[in-house]
Amino acid sequence: MSAARMSVSVWNALLALRNGQPADEPPGNDPLWTLYEPLARRRGGSFVVAQVGQSLDGRVATVEGDAAPISGPDGFRHLHRLRALADAVVVGAGCVAADDPRLTVREVDGPSPVRVLIDPNGRVPAEARCLSGEARTILVRAEGCDAPSPCETIHLPRGEGGRLCPRSLLAALAGHGLHHVLVEGGAATIRHFLEAGVVDRLHVSIAPIIIGSGAPGLSLSPVAHLSQALRPRCRTVDLGSDMLFDCAFDRP
Ligand SMILES: NC(=O)c1ccc[n+]([C@@H]2O[C@H](COP(=O)([O-])OP(=O)(O)OC[C@H]3O[C@@H](n4cnc5c(N)ncnc54)[C@H](OP(=O)(O)O)[C@@H]3O)[C@@H](O)[C@H]2O)c1
Repeated sequence: MSAARMSVSVWNALLALRNGQPADEPPGNDPLWTLYEPLARRRGGSFVVAQVGQSLDGRVATVEGDAAPISGPDGFRHLHRLRALADAVVVGAGCVAADDPRLTVREVDGPSPVRVLIDPNGRVPAEARCLSGEARTILVRAEGCDAPSPCETIHLPRGEGGRLCPRSLLAALAGHGLHHVLVEGGAATIRHFLEAGVVDRLHVSIAPIIIGSGAPGLSLSPVAHLSQALRPRCRTVDLGSDMLFDCAFDRP
């Protein structure tokens, strides 16, 4: 298997689709066109991609919390392509606390998505880099959280287990014109979206590094039998420095 390389013409066609414009579609066998087209093409409904960049043994950080860089340069570029094709990128407060990410597009040409921070208790500090003015940011807080807000804020009611419902969040984002959503992590945030059955694609990007212990990339509620395990339709794409598993789910 040889690494898939992004051409300028395919990337420009994907950006055109993302902007709702007609695109000169390349031959259907271009692996990167096939990979990104579902996120890029606006079809009028919502589309959710969750992405995790992890080690061979399924970790995203050491026990000390060192999380960068796990993905190689091609895995990192893949993440930035997903950001550029999405209307919004969603992360949890834990990810902001651990990594202080900017969540902008810097590795490829394209627009930065609206940054959506799930922060039910108002613990994201005002100096967090994802609250900078370089892109629009929306905070998602629990109803009743009255911490001062430095940007646009959506309040949602707490549901089961005190969580904010991912379906309600997607509906609220749709109300802001944000339909194509990248859920970038961390593990708890991805779990809530997967268990709510609202993920269309899960991208697991694996870097050839073994950490041995530390935070897991994915962590779902336990099942007793393998028959209860999630079995998405899967294909692999060799990104170069990283191997991508592109997993498709049927939404209930
Ligand atoms: N490699 C990757 O792809 C990648 C990407 C991102 C992050 N990471 C890593 O992931 C780790 C952080 O992950 P994490 O699982 O600890 O945290 P997380 O998923 O980023 O954030 C979890 C927190 O976000 C809030 N939250 C998220 N979804 C919620 C919901 N539906 N309802 C209510 N609250 C919700 C809660 O905040 P409260 O605690 O305030 O209630 C929750 O505790 C770090 O080690 C980071 O490096 C890795």
